[in-house]
Amino acid sequence: MVISLQSPLDMHLHLRDEEMLDIVTPLSAETFAGGLVMPNLVPPVTTKEAVCAYRERIARARGEYTFTPYMTLFFRSDYTPAFLEEVKEEILAVKLYPAGITTNSEGGVSGFEMDELAPALEAMSDLGIPLCVHGETGGFVMDREAEFMPIYERLATRFPNLKIVMEHITTKEAVAALDRFENLYATITLHHLYITLDEVAGGLLQPHLFCKPVAKRPEDREALLKTALAAHPKVMFGSDSAPHPREKKEAPGCAAGVFTAPLALQALAQLFDEHGKLENLQAFVSDNARRIYGITPPEKEVVLEKTPWLVPEIYEGTVVPMFAGQSLAWRVVSAA
Ligand code: DOR
Ligand code: ZN
Repeated sequence: MVISLQSPLDMHLHLRDEEMLDIVTPLSAETFAGGLVMPNLVPPVTTKEAVCAYRERIARARGEYTFTPYMTLFFRSDYTPAFLEEVKEEILAVKLYPAGITTNSEGGVSGFEMDELAPALEAMSDLGIPLCVHGETGGFVMDREAEFMPIYERLATRFPNLKIVMEHITTKEAVAALDRFENLYATITLHHLYITLDEVAGGLLQPHLFCKPVAKRPEDREALLKTALAAHPKVMFGSDSAPHPREKKEAPGCAAGVFTAPLALQALAQLFDEHGKLENLQAFVSDNARRIYGITPPEKEVVLEKTPWLVPEIYEGTVVPMFAGQSLAWRVVSAA
């Protein structure tokens, strides 16, 4: 069996910088037509110059592949309307992190006082710049996303014309919110469609599956799966592929992040095929994002066939992917 996908998009992607950027960018650019690139570098991407310089480093790292890096700016509540207007042409979205909640998020938002956030968010709303949110509180780790839902609701209600993307949703509560607020959208990762906390910590600890937000309960995974397989029109694929060097993962104090970029389409094809929903994969990995963000990615046709493919154990001796050394049921035949 063969399928072809038109211009797949990864709407939540960490490409990092320096050596890691050089290793991972071609691995996304090979099969994706574009990706929404996260700004949590050290220091975070907070100026127009930093956005443009990062885009150029990505363009150099992607080599000959056709791949559009859609850029993001790291949210700060002190952005002025004039600054946002100036930077608008260089970015697709602004990414908001609660302070200290995940990798390199120390400079994020430390309270969700709506009056404090209002000037920047109103300007974004007026300018039509979407807000992407890492929605977790500082509470008990399994409850952080569910506890954040009232904040999403306050944001959605106070800024009704602001497009708000709930990033990497992991709970049935977040799925339910999609249908209650017109201006709430979501990305779903590959790993949260495949795993629950059991796969991470139910047996021997699996550091390469440790991420933020942590994978949740079976009923949460079921809700995500149902939504993704139906290609719910407000949901997009965003891998949250988040590479860390092996020594930072296989260590006490394991860094959060699952590296999935080079196998994402193959594993998605397998999942959608297993559930008899291959016809919805195009919408989930491309069409919904085009409509939600109003983007036209470069043309790229990716052909996949149902033939076993062995996922590499490690890339460039540095970064270990999800499903390392395991066989997936689908492989990429061509991408051009
Ligand atoms: O697991 C994660 N890794 N979650 C995030 O939100 C950030 C990411 C990273 O940058 O490593
Ligand atoms: Zn992320």
